[in-house]
Formats: sequence, structure tokens, C-alpha cells
Amino acid sequence: MWYPQPDNVVTVKASLPTLPLPPHDARSPLTTDRLLIRPLAASDAEALYVLRTQEEVMRWTSKGEIDPNIEATREKLNHFLPPNDAKTFNCAICLKDSGKLIGMGGCHLYPAEHGWPELGYIFRKEFWGKGIATEFVSAWLRAWEELPRSEREVNVQKNMVNGEGAVQEHLIAITELANLGSQGVLLKAGFERFREYEEKDVSDPNKMVQLVAFRYFPVSRNN
Ligand SMILES: CC(C)(COP(=O)(O)OP(=O)(O)OC[C@H]1O[C@@H](n2cnc3c(N)ncnc32)[C@H](O)[C@@H]1OP(=O)(O)O)[C@@H](O)C(=O)NCCC(=O)NCCS
Repeated sequence: MWYPQPDNVVTVKASLPTLPLPPHDARSPLTTDRLLIRPLAASDAEALYVLRTQEEVMRWTSKGEIDPNIEATREKLNHFLPPNDAKTFNCAICLKDSGKLIGMGGCHLYPAEHGWPELGYIFRKEFWGKGIATEFVSAWLRAWEELPRSEREVNVQKNMVNGEGAVQEHLIAITELANLGSQGVLLKAGFERFREYEEKDVSDPNKMVQLVAFRYFPVSRNN
């Protein structure tokens, strides 16, 4: 059966992480100077609830508000637990010394609405401004680049890719225009700012929100 594509979408060919992604029990934890980055678990719900009830953190997420109760946190967490690990690569970000969970980050949507995989992250406010997000993104990108890849045809929004046919694999991150902290992290980790646009706010459709899209071109390290 042939389905017509919307006008704003183009089919391109790229080498991308093979779906399904490796399951949680096949993912090794990553360590950096200060962090332990590991697969999320159902038992992370309480620590995530603490993170997701910090207003200063949640105002920058597409949801725009804190979780009303721990059930909402559990529901969110379920998007990243088996069997949903087949299409997400979102991790618990913990302090290496104590194991304390201080953030969550990784690929939470694959494919996202624009067609490419998308990176996102949130950290507890007590740990901002210490280079932790940059340390996380740099380590996580390496793990993303080590995933097995296959050539695939994907439908992506035209303004999220240059050209047609065979293109470089993209990883996208989207921030609010005012979120200079997150933009700083992305630039330091090697992302390129490529598009500024306005769209309806997911958390309040009566409002518009100014967004900036960043892209990164992963280099396959799966040899
Ligand atoms: C945005 C966020 C991830 C930054 O985390 P962080 O650990 O403080 O970031 P880093 O310390 O690694 O900062 C990296 C760079 O970003 C810039 N930066 C960080 N915070 C900044 C701020 N508030 N204003 C301007 N620039 C900032 C700096 O240039 C910094 O580089 P420097 O250390 O050389 O000065 C964190 O504040 C957060 O979790 N915010 C709430 C959730 C969120 O915004 N998520 C991203 C949604 S797109």
C-alpha cells in the first residue's frame, strides 16, 4: 500500500543506529571522571520524582511543569524501560562516588516528530554550573556512536535536513531560545546550531514558543 507523504517531509537514506536498539540488559554502564551513566530502572522512580518536581528544571522541558505525583513520574519512566528500550536510549545519570541519581538524559525519542533521533537531558538544580551536563553529553555521544548501524530510508522534515538522497546521519536537540545553559552544553559537545523557529507551546497551545534546533553528525565507532 502506498501512503502519500505530507509536503514538508522528504525521504532520505542514512546510516542510523539499528532498531530495535540493544536491550537494557545488554548495555554496559559508562563512567566518566564524576559520573556513572547506566540504564534506567523502575526503582529509579523516587529519585526521578525529586528531579521532576524541581520547577527550575521542569520549566525548560516540553511539559513545562512539575510532575503532579509519583504515578506521573512512573508513567514517564515507563517510556524508557523494557520493552520501550527498543526505541529509546535514555539513561540514569548518577554520581560515581555515591550512586546518587542527579539527572536523566539520552535519546528519548527515536524517531522524533522531525524524523531523526533526539537527545534531551535534565539535571537536579544543585548540580548545575559544574560542567556535569557537558561531561554527560560527551560520554553519551560516544556510546551512541558505538551502537550497531544500518542503512535505512527515513522520512524527515525538509527543514531538518540539507538535500535529498543519501545524507549524513543526524542527531537533533531542541532548546528554547532562552535556554542559554542547554545551548552552551550542546555547543561544547560539538553540536551545530542550525535553525531558529516558533511553534505552539506543547504545554499551552494558546502560547507560542521560540525554539532553536541543534544538530550533530555522529561518526560510527562500531568496528
Ligand atoms: C541546561 C543544563 C542541562 C546545564 O547543565 P550544567 O551541568 O549546568 O551545564 P555545564 O556546566 O556543562 O555547562 C556547559 C556550558 O553551558 C553554558 N552554561 C551553563 N549554564 C548556563 C547558564 N545558566 N547561562 C548561560 N550559559 C550557561 C556555559 O557556557 C558552560 O560552559 P563553561 O563551563 O565553559 O562556562 C541544566 O541547567 C539543566 O538541567 N537545566 C534544566 C533542564 C534543561 O534545560 N534541559 C535541557 C532542555 S533542552
